[in-house]
Amino acid sequence: MSFDVAAVRADFPILSREVNGKPLVYLDNGASAQKPQVVIDAINTAYSQEYANVHRGLHYLSNLATEKYESVRAKVARFLGAANEDSIVLNSGTTEGINMVAYAWAMENLSEGDEIVLSVMEHHANIVPWHFLRERMGVKLVWVDVDVNGDLDPQAVLDACTDRTKLIAVTHMSNVLGTVVDVKTICHAARARGIATMIDGSQAAVHMPVDVEDLGCDFYPITGHKLYGPSGSGAIYVRPERFAEMRPFIGGGDMIREVHKDSVIYNDAPMKFEAGTPGIVQTIGFGVALDYMMGLGMENIAAHERALRDYARDRLDGLNWLSVQGQSAGKGAIFSFTLDGAAHAHDISTVLDKKGVAVRAGQHCTGPLMDHLGLTATCRASFGMYNTESEVDALVDALELCHKLFA
Ligand code: ALA
Repeated sequence: MSFDVAAVRADFPILSREVNGKPLVYLDNGASAQKPQVVIDAINTAYSQEYANVHRGLHYLSNLATEKYESVRAKVARFLGAANEDSIVLNSGTTEGINMVAYAWAMENLSEGDEIVLSVMEHHANIVPWHFLRERMGVKLVWVDVDVNGDLDPQAVLDACTDRTKLIAVTHMSNVLGTVVDVKTICHAARARGIATMIDGSQAAVHMPVDVEDLGCDFYPITGHKLYGPSGSGAIYVRPERFAEMRPFIGGGDMIREVHKDSVIYNDAPMKFEAGTPGIVQTIGFGVALDYMMGLGMENIAAHERALRDYARDRLDGLNWLSVQGQSAGKGAIFSFTLDGAAHAHDISTVLDKKGVAVRAGQHCTGPLMDHLGLTATCRASFGMYNTESEVDALVDALELCHKLFA
């Protein structure tokens, strides 16, 4: 099946609007992606025709909402290549997923002096929960650098492990450099040494096929709003045997089977880790977004974005006053850059915005990476499945204007 980017664009109503009198060129997909009409329609239908709480009522609407909500578990399992839908915990996104691993698994299984290995290019969502364990339990964080191209050597990660290492928590794709990490090598070697692996899938799952069984990871969180679905939706894959090592960390309705004055009996996993009324409509919309992506085919999306990356790389390489951070050969279509000279990333993004080009500027929630690069901020153009080569040209034109203004 070929990938028809014009047809895909037509499915996203926001892409035909203008910003500052110019056609919108949306290159901030790493922060959050736009939504196709099918997702918007699903949200509308859920609220206008099919809304009730889930797992609670016996009435028609509650059953319907429950059925639609629960069907998302199987969709996520299919999307991530998980053999069993019961290995999927539905939640509000990757931040909640990683915090669940920290509170429900790591706090139960790590003790003072145990080590967690992280790469220097992790997002704050995959750093701060581990700092909580450092602060509260005396767990040690061990950092592995990336090389000059922004590549993370799997062997360096494994070499950083000691007999106190209990967890390796690394990203599958950097949200700043676009680096794709060979997490399969890391996960398989870690498993052989009895070390758990938590792979942050926030970015990677958007851009390439993922198969958690093949990767061999223990935890793989994803986030709905980057996957062309609603914000406040997401999921985490948990290797089934890890559930036995976990205690619930948010208590409330739904995660419970029986509650008495002096005892509680929890529900089975995955429900045990889903307390309270969930993001019902967000999750239903998330399922529709995953259907949309799987309908296009993740291989097709990945091939389109590889071509876009190559085109963007060529065009940006031609700007000898621009420094692109992260030159990994197999990187995703994410380009963080600074302009040689004094212009601040915020000034650059403001000029780009005037031309209708939306990028992110700042630290991108990656303080340790910025320290490693010796930068305080970059601009980031992060591409999605609906972006085109002519949008790369629009970015380059707007950057040339920045160069004229700030050089
Ligand atoms: N994690 C999002 C980003 O990288 C917010 O921009």
